Amino acid sequence: MTGRAVVKGVGHYLPARVVPNSEFEKTLDTSDEWIRSRSGIERRHFSAEGETTSDLATNAAKAALDDAGMSADQIDAIILATSTADLTFPSAATMVQARLGMTGGFAFDVQAVCAGFVYALSNANALIVSGQARRVLVIGAETFSRIMDWTDRSTCVLFGDGAGAVVLEAEEGTGTPEDRGILAVDLNSDGRYRDLLYVDGGVSTQTTGYLRMQGNQVFRHAVEKLAQTAENALEKAGLSSSDVDWIVPHQANIRIIQGTAKKMGLPMEKVVITVQDHGNTSAASIPLALSVGKQRGQIKKGDLVVTEAIGGGLAWGAVVLRW
Ligand code: UT7
Repeated sequence: MTGRAVVKGVGHYLPARVVPNSEFEKTLDTSDEWIRSRSGIERRHFSAEGETTSDLATNAAKAALDDAGMSADQIDAIILATSTADLTFPSAATMVQARLGMTGGFAFDVQAVCAGFVYALSNANALIVSGQARRVLVIGAETFSRIMDWTDRSTCVLFGDGAGAVVLEAEEGTGTPEDRGILAVDLNSDGRYRDLLYVDGGVSTQTTGYLRMQGNQVFRHAVEKLAQTAENALEKAGLSSSDVDWIVPHQANIRIIQGTAKKMGLPMEKVVITVQDHGNTSAASIPLALSVGKQRGQIKKGDLVVTEAIGGGLAWGAVVLRW
């Protein structure tokens, strides 16, 4: 018998304010046409004033718990992937813990930017498989609108705010790829590329800073590395691309998503796409897409799902799981 971390619930939350591409035409030398054709983004959500990452995360967590039919006191651990925590400390995860009324267990944040949810899933899987936790709430939540330079058209039109969450529970599996749950993980980072995507401020420099990105360079790495990490994870699971029911990619750019699917030899009908509605929500994008994909009736029990993401670091990775 093999311990498996199985998805028991999924949910998401998006702030109320929807901002269409046309909004940026008022203040920047850009167009709806440019944004759509270069990125696939049509609109994104922005948090209201005072609405923080832990607010979004708490709402997504409640939705995932509802979907799982579980209450917060049944959860052993919360892992929150974010690069836009409310405060320097405590972690946003502990804020969510308190808001959910959880007085036991433990909670912490994971910071791996757009790859954050994949890293968080990997951590949750390790906790469950090693017996340190039975039920883990894994959240991706971001308020990237707070780190946008609104005068930089090459970045501020691309990002959005939101949150998604899954509840994982330990189950005994047979150790074969037919098991439900997380089957394999592939994580990577290469700090030599830190200047391609970063925030030019932080606590230690006593500044807040804005997101800076050499978009076309990140694009080049993304197309090359995402298919590779997905294929590595599939191989570790004893599977191949032909076994995949759904790719649930990080939603940064439709052209990256298409390029990755093509490299993996998969048709776009097997890809969950939400980038048009959410923009790039960094660590929130995969759990948002998992939740929307389930709501749409795309992802069903027993389906083989591959999530993959790349972002600042560079950090990238993939998780193969059976829903
Ligand atoms: O989530 C973390 C990982 N991040 C990503 O995966 C993002 C990866 N990168 C991308 O998605 C794409 O590179 C972008 C969407 C950011 C840009 O698309 P691109 O096809 O790589 O365009 P580019 O950066 O090469 O820029 C092409 C042109 C430039 O003008 P010139 O130099 O050719 O005259 C830019 O100045 O487009 C210009 N441009 C814009 N024009 C209108 C850049 N931003 C805009 C804009 N509106 N908003």
